[in-house]
Amino acid sequence: MTRTSRFWGIVPAAGVGKRMQSDRPKQYLELAGTPVIEHTLTRLLSTGIFEAIAVAVSTEDPYWPDLKISRHPAIVTTPGGKERADSVLSGLNSLRDRATDEDWVLVHDAARPCITAEDMNKLIDHLTAEDVGGILALPSHDTLKHVRENRIAGTLDRSHVWRALTPQMFRYGLLKKALEAAQGNPAVTDEASALELAGFHPRIVEGRPDNIKITRPEDLALAQFYLEQQ
Ligand code: C5P
Repeated sequence: MTRTSRFWGIVPAAGVGKRMQSDRPKQYLELAGTPVIEHTLTRLLSTGIFEAIAVAVSTEDPYWPDLKISRHPAIVTTPGGKERADSVLSGLNSLRDRATDEDWVLVHDAARPCITAEDMNKLIDHLTAEDVGGILALPSHDTLKHVRENRIAGTLDRSHVWRALTPQMFRYGLLKKALEAAQGNPAVTDEASALELAGFHPRIVEGRPDNIKITRPEDLALAQFYLEQQ
């Protein structure tokens, strides 16, 4: 396998994690004795593919500077934004003097610590020949309802419904342009949606179901189980 393009990582980590009911943002909760974000970054760094990884953290975040990994030579700290997309754009801007428009960017949630090298390599192998990029995703096994005011308004055709995961991998130039154009649009909840608004159709690559996002308190125990199993 030849990899001529360069790869950059972006990890949005400026969320406050309202659904966790904890004293600190979810990315700093302990998972098997180590903060969630440290698991995530260690796994990204261990692939050895990234020129650098930009981590977007809140300017008022007291936890990040205390982590040893924040001083790793391949980690660039950048201020987070109001929404996830603003944090990702901040990460892209922090790399602008070093990255070219054709370079690849992998955006990965800080709150997904169970990401495997296997999934990252699969994503890269499926997308390197693409012009735009794509995302890891999972087909939905549940029947999905469209709900308005606590009543079912319709049922989605689940054979066409996938759950978007991260990493999401796009060309630096296209991703930056799409996120800038979509700024302030509440429909942009991941990178792919910004590209979709710009008229592109990113590829889907099936990921592993253990790549969960820590969202609720019980997710920590599940993540610990997955880390032990892997
Ligand atoms: O809130 P949600 O689970 O969708 O967040 C996904 C990721 O985006 C988390 O890693 C979170 O820290 C990050 N985020 C961010 N800036 C925000 C909101 C969320 O970096 N303003």
